[in-house]
Amino acid sequence: MKILAIESSCDETATAVVEDGRHVLSSVIASQVEEHVLYGGVVPEIASRRHTEAISQITAQALSEANCTMDDIDAVAVTAAPGLIGALLVGVNFAKGLSLRYDKPLVPVHHLRSHIASNYITSPDLKPPFLALVVSGGHTHLVEVKSYTEYKVIGCTRDDAAGECMDKSARTLGLPYPGGKNLDAAAKNGNPDAFKMPHPHVEGAPYDFSFSGLKTFVINTVHNREQKGESISVEDMGASVIKAVVDCLVGNTEKAAIDFGYDKIVFAGGVSANSVLRSRMAACCSEHGWQLFMPTPDLCSDNAAMVGAQGYYEFIAGNTAGLDLNAKATMPINEVF
Ligand code: KG4
Ligand code: ZN
Repeated sequence: MKILAIESSCDETATAVVEDGRHVLSSVIASQVEEHVLYGGVVPEIASRRHTEAISQITAQALSEANCTMDDIDAVAVTAAPGLIGALLVGVNFAKGLSLRYDKPLVPVHHLRSHIASNYITSPDLKPPFLALVVSGGHTHLVEVKSYTEYKVIGCTRDDAAGECMDKSARTLGLPYPGGKNLDAAAKNGNPDAFKMPHPHVEGAPYDFSFSGLKTFVINTVHNREQKGESISVEDMGASVIKAVVDCLVGNTEKAAIDFGYDKIVFAGGVSANSVLRSRMAACCSEHGWQLFMPTPDLCSDNAAMVGAQGYYEFIAGNTAGLDLNAKATMPINEVF
C-alpha cells in the first residue's frame, strides 16, 4: 500500500511516498532555515507563506521520484496536529484537495506519533510495545507505546521543552538558529562540568521534566558576565547545559524503563539528533541490556517519510477523516481526530 504523506507543522515543507509503513520511495524537504535565520527563530506567518509556495511543487517531486502518479497512491496522510496552526492548515487543506480530486482516503496524523514512527523506517523489525522518549522543539514526553495507535503518556515537561532550552541557550550564547544543532556542534570540545547547573526534579512526579530553570540559569549567567565585562566560554556553557538536559532525559527514561518493565527504548524528535544524548542513552541501555532504537539523523527532524509510516498504521486502524478535518495547534498524543 502506497501513501502520499505531507508535513507542514513548523518550518519544513515536506512530502514523501511510503510503502507499507516501512519503505521510503521518496522523501522531499523544502527547508526554510535560511529565511528564519535572519530572525533568530521561526516566524509563523513566513512559515505559512513558504509552505503555500512550496507544497505543489514538492508533492509533484515526491510522486515523480517514487515513479508514481496519483493513480498509484492508496491514501493521503497529513500532519494535522500539533504545530503552528497557520502552517498546519496549508498541509491539511492541500491534502483535502488531493483527497477530493483523486478520491483517496484522507489520513490525519499526530506529529508526535509520526516522530515515533520514524523508527519504523530506520529499524524495520521494531514493533510496539516499547517506551518512547519524544524530544522536539515544543515537546518532551515519555510515552508507553502500547500498539501502533495506542499511547499512554507517563511523563512530560511542566514548562519548556528540551529543544526550547537548547535553542534559547544557543541564542543567548550568540549561536545562530537552528540553535540546538549549532549548540551541539559548538559544545563538542567544551567542559561539561565547567558550570554548576541546576538539575531540576518535579516533586512527586519522577517521570516529569522541567527545563525553564535551566534556560533561565544560562540567560542570567551570560548576562551577568556581560554586565561585568567578562567573557564566557560558549564551548563550556554549551557542554554544561547539554549535560544537564541529557542527565534529566536519560535519568527519567532509565527510571521509567525500570519501573514499567520496558527493555526496548525508542528515541524520537529533533533533539534525539543530539550527539551527547545518543551516546549517553546508548551507554545506559547497554549497561542494562536494553535495546535502543534511534532514527537516523535525517529522520530525527521534521520530514514527511515519518508521516507516511504512521499514516499507514492509522489507516489500518481505520483512523481516516472526512473533508471536515481541521488542524489543531495542540492535541494530546492519545486522542484521535
Ligand atoms: O522535531 P523537530 O525537528 O521539530 C519540532 O517538532 O519541534 O525538533 C526541532 C528541535 C529544535 O529545538 C532543535 O534545536 C532541536 O530539535 N535539535 C537539536 C539538535 N538538532 C535539532 N537539539 C540538540 N542537538 C541537536 N543536534
Ligand atoms: Zn517535529
